[in-house]
Amino acid sequence: MFLSPRWIAVLLAGLIATLVVAFLSFVPGVDITMLFVAGVSSLIISFFGIYYTIDLLVFQEVNNIYKTIRKLKIKDFDISKKKLIINVNPLKKLNTEISDYVEKKQAEINELKRMETFRREFLADVSHELKTPIFAAQGFIHTLLDGAKDDPVVSTRFLQKAAKSLDGLDALVRDLVVLTQVETGELKMQFIIVDMINVINDIIEQLENKAQKRGVSIKIKPKDLKECLVIADPQRINQVMTNFVDNAIKYGRDNGKVLIEFEEAKNAWQISVEDDGPGIPKEHLSRIFERFYRVDKSRSRETGGTGLGLAIVKHILNAHNSTISVSSKIDKGTRFSFSLKKA
Ligand SMILES: Nc1ncnc2c1ncn2[C@@H]1O[C@H](COP(=O)(O)OP(=O)(O)OP(=O)(O)O)[C@@H](O)[C@H]1O
Ligand SMILES: [Mg+2]
Repeated sequence: MFLSPRWIAVLLAGLIATLVVAFLSFVPGVDITMLFVAGVSSLIISFFGIYYTIDLLVFQEVNNIYKTIRKLKIKDFDISKKKLIINVNPLKKLNTEISDYVEKKQAEINELKRMETFRREFLADVSHELKTPIFAAQGFIHTLLDGAKDDPVVSTRFLQKAAKSLDGLDALVRDLVVLTQVETGELKMQFIIVDMINVINDIIEQLENKAQKRGVSIKIKPKDLKECLVIADPQRINQVMTNFVDNAIKYGRDNGKVLIEFEEAKNAWQISVEDDGPGIPKEHLSRIFERFYRVDKSRSRETGGTGLGLAIVKHILNAHNSTISVSSKIDKGTRFSFSLKKA
C-alpha cells in the first residue's frame, strides 16, 4: 500500500515542501504567512505533478500490456481495465493475474497430455481387442478354404468357431459404440418410472442358461418384494443390471450363489448384486471400472468378457446421478451397490 503511486507522491511532495520552506526561512523579509503559502502550494503542486507523472508512466505500460492481452483474446483473464485503474498497485495485480493464467494454462496442458496418453492407450487396446477375434475367424475360414470344407464334421465345427469369434467382435463393437455415445453425452437417457423387479426377472430369465451351466443359483432379497419403482432409463438400467449379474455368474464360483438385494431408503432404493466367488484383490478394485481392465486376463477372455462392461455401467449410473460402491473379500465374494431415485 505504501508503495502505491499516491503514497510515493505524498512522501516526495512532503519532502519538496519541507525543503522549500527551509530554504525560504533563510531569505530575509519572508514572513510566516508567506512561508505557509509557499509550503502548502509547493506541497499541492508537487503532489499532483509527481502523482500524475508516476500514474502516467505506470498506466502507459499497464495499458500496453493490457492491449497485448486483449489482442491475444484470452478469455481466461479476469482483468478489466477499470479494475486495474482503481487498483492501488496495478502492476502487482497484473502480475498475479498473469501467474494465475500461467497456472491455469499449465493445468490445461497437463490435462491435454493426459488425454493424449489415454487416447493412445485406448487405440492400442481397441486394436488389440479387435485383432483377437478377427485373427481367430480369419484362421478358421482359411483352414476351411484350404480343404477342411470337404469334411462336413470339421467344416461345421470350424464355421461355428468362426461365427463365435465374429459374434464376440460384434458385441465388442457394439459396446464400444455405446461407450463412446455415453461418454460424449450423445446417448440421451429417457427417464421414466421403472419397476426394477420386472427388470431383474427379465435378466434372470435371459441368463438362466448361463447360470445353470455353472450351477449358480440367483436369489432376490426380500423374496416377496412385489415392486421396486425407480426413475431410470429402462434399457440402460437393464444393461447395468445385466452386467452385474452376468459378472457375478461368470466370475463367481461354480455352484455359487448370486444375491440381488433391494433396500428401501427415504428417497431412493439401494440395489446390490452380491456373489460368493473368489473376490477381487484390493489392488484391482479401483481399476475394474477402466475400459478393458480385467483382473485375470486369460480367464476373462475365456469367458468372453471384453472388460468394457463396468466402464459402461459407471457412465450410465453417472447419468442417473448415482455412483457405484464395491466391496470384495478374497474367497468370500464381491458386492456391487448403487442407488436409484424412488419414483
Ligand atoms: N463379481 C465379480 N467377481 C470377481 N471379479 C469381477 C466381478 N465383476 C467383475 N470382475 C472383474 O472385473 C473385470 C471387469 O468387469 P467388466 O464387467 O467390466 O468386464 P467383463 O465382464 O470381463 O467384460 P464384459 O462386461 O465387457 O463382457 C472382469 O474382467 C473381472 O476380472
Ligand atoms: Mg461384465
